[in-house]
Amino acid sequence: MLTSKVEKTLNAQLELEASSSQTYLAMASWAETQGLGGIAEFLFMHSDEEREHMLKLLKYINERGGHAIVPQLDAPAVEYGSIQTVFQTLLDHEVMVSQAINDCVAVCIDESDYTTQNFLQWYVAEQLEEEALARTIMDKLKLIGGDKGGLYLFDRDIATLTV
Ligand code: FEO
Repeated sequence: MLTSKVEKTLNAQLELEASSSQTYLAMASWAETQGLGGIAEFLFMHSDEEREHMLKLLKYINERGGHAIVPQLDAPAVEYGSIQTVFQTLLDHEVMVSQAINDCVAVCIDESDYTTQNFLQWYVAEQLEEEALARTIMDKLKLIGGDKGGLYLFDRDIATLTV
């Protein structure tokens, strides 16, 4: 059984994962309108992964006797201006999500809920990977700078980077 504090914290994380999914979906749609099909595909996939993260929390909360709440979400941004902006936003967002996961773990320790703390370790590991990938992408984009040929190749090759 979850304590109400843990339940509330996990529901807040569920909302954050759902909003990550929506944000990456909006980025994917924007990239598609810019003719960047490879980047769009990568972001569509990433959006699906965030939905999986959200569902995993939803199922866990209910399994432990809580009630997972499907949240109302704010609309994500429509325009992103540049691909650098997209991935800088993504990196900043993932850093924020990692902090939120750490906060969830701290609440579990406070509440002596070691089962949930253990469940959250999957998210801790996942965040490590996601941040590393976002940093790799930003490094590549810095190398490319304003080079259109470089962007063309990046768009073609991004599918080979694993999330
Ligand atoms: Fe599920 Fe990228 O945080």
